[in-house]
Amino acid sequence: MSFRLQPPAPARPNRCQLFGPGSRPAIFEKMAASAADVINLDLEDSVAPDDKPAARANIIQAIGDIDWGNKYLSVRINGLDTPYWYRDVVDLLEQAGERLDQIMIPKVGCAADVYAVDALVSAVEAAKGRDKRISLEVIIESAAGIAHVEEIAAASPRLQAMSLGAADFAASMGMQTTGIGGTQENYYMAHQGQKHWSDPWHWAQAAIVAACRTHGVLPVDGPFGDFSDDEGFLAQARRSATLGMVGKWAIHPKQVALSNEVFTPSDAQVSEAREILAAMAKAKSEGAGATVYKGRLVDIASIRQAEVIVRQAEMIAG
Ligand code: COA
Ligand code: MG
Repeated sequence: MSFRLQPPAPARPNRCQLFGPGSRPAIFEKMAASAADVINLDLEDSVAPDDKPAARANIIQAIGDIDWGNKYLSVRINGLDTPYWYRDVVDLLEQAGERLDQIMIPKVGCAADVYAVDALVSAVEAAKGRDKRISLEVIIESAAGIAHVEEIAAASPRLQAMSLGAADFAASMGMQTTGIGGTQENYYMAHQGQKHWSDPWHWAQAAIVAACRTHGVLPVDGPFGDFSDDEGFLAQARRSATLGMVGKWAIHPKQVALSNEVFTPSDAQVSEAREILAAMAKAKSEGAGATVYKGRLVDIASIRQAEVIVRQAEMIAG
């Protein structure tokens, strides 16, 4: 480790973030009853411009009226390039109850975008004497967002999570696709008459994970649009988990269980991690820094890898 230690990310489960339009209050109770760790009530792109005021009112009322259990409750505001976002923040923090946990900022392109929302949130919180300090999450979904991802991850002590938004990201990058996450038909290598599909989201995901881990923020994979393709969702989620992300969005309730399954370390992964820790404890007691576990090298770095899995499992279980 560098002299500068890596800060831990918030110790709360964030395996699935279930989204729903603020203009569709009939599904709010179903969202609250779901198995998602995080609920994102949306004021942005799933709400038509004329519906913004009604969606705000629906969300403010639902924050107080619905029993959200132990869910982390977040509202996605509109982007800073719109005329809606300041009213989203002001109305939410002046009128919604203390049950609100978080505000999600879409299309963040630089650290100053986060600073602006932080300043407004801080002023309204102080003016209203709100006790709970609202946290922030951001979506990286533009060329500017990914180019400035590290300064964004460092932008505010309120920042807890950062997601990749595949659709807007693809549009901003000029990517030749209308797919939202997952395998893209034309992104392949060809070898001896065979096609091998590659992952066009990989680079952005890895950049987000590195920025998040540097600054103690939770890295999250965003939406997978084709909710009839469970196999594709699982493959995308497993790649994200392997890269260090802690969860994924659900844009349809059927994706919640899939996401929870992937981002909860399996019993087999946890027992293997515990066996590695036991093998290393034995090696250490014998004065060795490395040993053999099931025919492969494990050493002191393996302890840190195994601890990631055990800590994640314990945090989810607890
Ligand atoms: N959360 C909770 N429940 C939901 C839901 C959601 N996001 N979306 C649908 N449901 C419910 C439906 O009300 C229905 O319930 P019922 O069985 O009691 O009637 C059930 O789940 C099945 O819904 P289905 O008919 O398959 O979907 P739909 O056509 O009603 O809605 C979408 C499909 C994609 C429009 C809807 O899921 C949606 O709005 N998703 C979120 C979009 C969003 O927020 N986007 C912004 C982030 S990218
Ligand atoms: Mg978007």
